[in-house]
Amino acid sequence: MHKTGRLGGWCEFLLGDLGVPPNLIFPQDWVIEGIEKTFVNALDIHCHCLIGALTLSYIIDVTVYLRSISEGDRVSLARSEADMSTLFLSKNDVRSLLNMAEVIEAVEQAFKDWALGRAKMPPKAYLVLEQGDFRAMPGAIPGAAGMKWVNVHPQNQPLGLPTIMAILIYNDPATGYPLAVMDATDITAYRTGATAAMASKYLARKNSHTLGIVGAGRQSYTQLMAHGELFDLRRIKVFDQRAAAVETLIKSFPAYSIQACSLEEMVDSDIVCTVTPAREPFLKSEWVRPGTHINAIGADAEGKEELDPSILKKAVVVVDDLRQAAAAGEINVPVRKGLFAVEEVYATLGEIVVGKKQGRKDPQAITIFDSTGVAIEDIAVAKLVYDKARKAGGYLSLDFV
Ligand SMILES: NC(=O)c1ccc[n+]([C@@H]2O[C@H](COP(=O)([O-])OP(=O)(O)OC[C@H]3O[C@@H](n4cnc5c(N)ncnc54)[C@H](O)[C@@H]3O)[C@@H](O)[C@H]2O)c1
Repeated sequence: MHKTGRLGGWCEFLLGDLGVPPNLIFPQDWVIEGIEKTFVNALDIHCHCLIGALTLSYIIDVTVYLRSISEGDRVSLARSEADMSTLFLSKNDVRSLLNMAEVIEAVEQAFKDWALGRAKMPPKAYLVLEQGDFRAMPGAIPGAAGMKWVNVHPQNQPLGLPTIMAILIYNDPATGYPLAVMDATDITAYRTGATAAMASKYLARKNSHTLGIVGAGRQSYTQLMAHGELFDLRRIKVFDQRAAAVETLIKSFPAYSIQACSLEEMVDSDIVCTVTPAREPFLKSEWVRPGTHINAIGADAEGKEELDPSILKKAVVVVDDLRQAAAAGEINVPVRKGLFAVEEVYATLGEIVVGKKQGRKDPQAITIFDSTGVAIEDIAVAKLVYDKARKAGGYLSLDFV
């Protein structure tokens, strides 16, 4: 769905012959140059273009697979990996490099580093438009720095586009050199699932076996995957306004026992993950039984809210970042309305991970992890992806800067 540009004339004809749709944007000069220098039939080209803002106003993500081409005929944009170069990692590249167990480990380490003062992260910058919003998320952990540029457009589903899409610029912290530009759509989903599961590890009861999920969209998949890594999940209960979304989720995980159920039945779970873009609380206080742990994931911008505020009052509330949670997390609306005070937050997740504060103390307590999503999670996963890609080799790299 990249419709804003086309190749013209013979170039479009040749690429069409190779099965490349004509409605993609290409860096036209490069492609023409490449075609002139190579045997057209040896090229299998897949390109797409993403338009960002802030420090990058225009980023081109091109994946060119050159097959059966002699060294002398290499297209000028394909560079040796040994050069100082920028790696370009597409959605498929990143997806093939992601592993949930590794992501959980990387994210936990990032929270440790942050809690011990070894990571840096200014607040997210929000750009709010009528149809959705954008966030710029810079951050640095030991040995890695970068920025994610991510959108949230809840009305994208009928257009066949994800609600959330992201790209990430990954830099050398010592020199600032852009080491990679990568798709961060799956990085976002993986790190969000990983962080929630990590929160559950510290806050849920150890013998938790049932997982409830409300909102069967993109994020629900990685919530399930990540909790599956850390818990022996015997039963998963899912509710969504769209029955079709629940059906698709069930079909995607044949190894799990997943059932569609009502909201009230879903809440009767050991761990509950709320992953909707709701702006009206839907989770009622009287449904939540003692001992439940809730990962409140969906509220990550001003005005979003999923839980009845009275649940906060009787729960142990943990946040990823206090300032961000107060401005944009599950507590943002209750704080603004005076129904919940920032001082009532028990701890940050980082404080618990490094042992400054204790996780679950009482099996009867209701615990809530208010997740807004923090840049160090993304940078930690980007580092993982980048290191694996460099080691494996074979990915597109450009002499970009
Ligand atoms: N905290 C974080 O770090 C973080 C990270 C990523 C996404 N998010 C947030 O999570 C939410 C979900 O993201 P996504 O990518 O899965 O979106 P998505 O559009 O893919 O899925 C959302 C699902 O929620 C369902 N839904 C909407 N309102 C509902 C309601 N009131 N009750 C039941 N179901 C409802 C929709 O039908 C849809 O299936 C968004 O608000 C997003 O901003 C937070």
